[in-house]
Amino acid sequence: MSGQVLLVTGATGGLGGAIVPRLAARGDRLLLVGRDKDRLAELEAAHGAPGRVETLTADVSDPEGARSAAEEAVTRYGRLDGLVHLVGAFKAGPLFLMDADAYEQTLRANFLSAVTATQAALPHLGQGARLVFFTTPLADEPLPALSAYAASKAALVAWARSIAHELKRGGVHVNVISMTMADTPDKRAARPDLNFDHTIAPDLVARAVAFLTSEEADGLYGAVVPVLGRFEFRSDLSGPPR
Ligand SMILES: NC(=O)c1ccc[n+]([C@@H]2O[C@H](COP(=O)([O-])OP(=O)(O)OC[C@H]3O[C@@H](n4cnc5c(N)ncnc54)[C@H](OP(=O)(O)O)[C@@H]3O)[C@@H](O)[C@H]2O)c1
Repeated sequence: MSGQVLLVTGATGGLGGAIVPRLAARGDRLLLVGRDKDRLAELEAAHGAPGRVETLTADVSDPEGARSAAEEAVTRYGRLDGLVHLVGAFKAGPLFLMDADAYEQTLRANFLSAVTATQAALPHLGQGARLVFFTTPLADEPLPALSAYAASKAALVAWARSIAHELKRGGVHVNVISMTMADTPDKRAARPDLNFDHTIAPDLVARAVAFLTSEEADGLYGAVVPVLGRFEFRSDLSGPPR
């Protein structure tokens, strides 16, 4: 379906710059939401087009902010057909260094923001609406020192799969993309020694988002779609037989 109206929450982050132009290019009308005004202004300059790609400053992890974002999409475009929820936060640290606040903030960014954004969008959505969330393989394979991040994404996936059952009765599709580290300039600057063969190009994630927000994904409700490129968990026990 082209020309649908999508709320893109957390558009200010690492993936927004790849996802926004791909959805806009097929004719979707987008309201890009974030808290960072300067970054929203950059997105506006790069991709903005009145009546087609607009921005809004709001915190969708707050129920009131989320409600205003969903209502603003309807006010500006006349309807709302889905949500691409890019809000998230990475947090690493061993248990003994993580206080309760760190857990709360990570849960709020990765899980509760999805709840508030979805609850705000739902009253406006109808048959064929599409919601897309983002997780990590670490939710299934929680490595050391990533307890808050892994637990918050595991919560997100369990929640998304549960509501997918509830909402499919109304024709609303809820699906999740599981991705590994994106290959972005920031990551390359921060991790110069990393083998980037195992990261994922943001454009490949954008293509999966375009798929999950299209009629091509009409059969999918509650899917967790791996967009992992060549990433794999390695072990001394793995490898070809000799
Ligand atoms: N990039 C990766 O390597 C990677 C890997 C696996 C999974 N993911 C997941 O994929 C999604 C998109 O990735 P990304 O790299 O674009 O994300 P990101 O840059 O880490 O974050 C996206 C946006 O979320 C917003 N945000 C963060 N904490 C928030 C909070 N407490 N309340 C409200 N908004 C908050 C921020 O926007 P404002 O500050 O403007 O509000 C931020 O720009 C995320 O859910 C991420 O966890 C990403």
